[in-house]
Amino acid sequence: MKKVQFTETVLRDANQSLIATRLPYEKFEGILSTMDKAGYYSVECWGGATFDSCLRYLGEDPWERLRNIKAQMPNTKLQMLLRGQNLLGYKHYPDDVVRKFVAKSIENGIDIIRIFDALNDLRNVEVAVDETLKNGGHPSLAISYTQSPVHTLKKFAELSKDMEKLGAKSICIKDMAGVMSPQEASDLVKAIKDSVSLPVVLHTHCTTGLAFMTCLKAVEAGADVIDTATSCFSGGTSQPATETLKYALEQMGYETGLDQDVINEVNNYFKPIRDSFIESGVLDPKVMATDTQALNYKIPGGMLSNLISQLKAQNAIDKLPEVLLETPRVRADLGYPPLVTPMSQMVGVQAATNVLLGERYKAIGKEVKAYCRGEYGQAPGEIDADLMKKALGDETPITCRYADLLEPKFDDTKAELKYIARSDEDVLSYIAFPQQAEKFFANRKAKEEKTVKYTIEEIKEDAE
Ligand code: CO
Repeated sequence: MKKVQFTETVLRDANQSLIATRLPYEKFEGILSTMDKAGYYSVECWGGATFDSCLRYLGEDPWERLRNIKAQMPNTKLQMLLRGQNLLGYKHYPDDVVRKFVAKSIENGIDIIRIFDALNDLRNVEVAVDETLKNGGHPSLAISYTQSPVHTLKKFAELSKDMEKLGAKSICIKDMAGVMSPQEASDLVKAIKDSVSLPVVLHTHCTTGLAFMTCLKAVEAGADVIDTATSCFSGGTSQPATETLKYALEQMGYETGLDQDVINEVNNYFKPIRDSFIESGVLDPKVMATDTQALNYKIPGGMLSNLISQLKAQNAIDKLPEVLLETPRVRADLGYPPLVTPMSQMVGVQAATNVLLGERYKAIGKEVKAYCRGEYGQAPGEIDADLMKKALGDETPITCRYADLLEPKFDDTKAELKYIARSDEDVLSYIAFPQQAEKFFANRKAKEEKTVKYTIEEIKEDAE
């Protein structure tokens, strides 16, 4: 029998895409032991923005959240999203920090680490992959999907081969903007399947309305796993619905391994939670609808809304049509980076600057310069020679892996935090998000002492 499996995303990507990652642990704790019986391939529950959100908004220790989920779901593979050498942020960390973070993620309960790099530069994922393998985890390498003259089927197929060589246990096609069409998915899955002998996972978003069709065609072309969200947390900027795709695919003769009663119970559990987020205004019903603008302009929805608010703030919204024409030109000049954070902001801001100043590259952003210097990795295509000259002058770009230039950091930070951090996990939280972690440590102490407020200085004084 034909087989396809499901990764449930309600705890991570659906949570992040629809309600800005504001789902607290106590709200979903009650359904975890049920979810454990659903028959999912995996549950994506950690990484991405969940870590920052735990510390910044929810007053939760992200590591403790992970351990709690694991205790409730001992039979399900837990999955996280990791941005290669950037871990959960947007800058490169030294290798010792990356290794420690990966090792601790697995030690605390993660089974599958989906690792990606915004530019698909494999030098930025190799350390995370190596450490995942060393700790007995499953590194799933993700291709940041985008469309451009240099992103051909052949290139993606070669990339998947290189990922297999690096030690990937599965290949994920990551369409973060929801712009992959059913035909493109079908062609790409076939191309990857012809090149490697690994399971292929499809990750997309419903934003433009293509996702259900895209998943269907991907499965027909041989995709082994699809990412879906329980139906009340599906659609719009989230994933397509778990129950719907199970229904359609089983009718076509696919075995999904999902238990109908259990996934219904999961959805019933989350419905009132979804409603409460609509009521409080955190969930804007608009993000659950279809928005095809990304197909017209070939830029992700989030980037378009950023551009609009940026132009409005500068009283220049009448320039939007010009900026929308300039955006693909800037992207081409930069060698067609996928329009994912931080590249989407970089390209958008530069396009707006070019239009507003009335001269292309009269001013060049700091990030664009760093990109041209090679600090983000290898550009997918050639960077325009004139732009290179304007951005760098006589400076030569680096050709090595950027993280090779970074000094180890974990041990020094641990020593610095002697009186504050209680574990290596605390140290990693601090390295990833220093201000948020400090605030969290202070609040944690205050909660224990049952005082109203505690500062980092007071924790230090107490310990000394
Ligand atoms: Co996503």
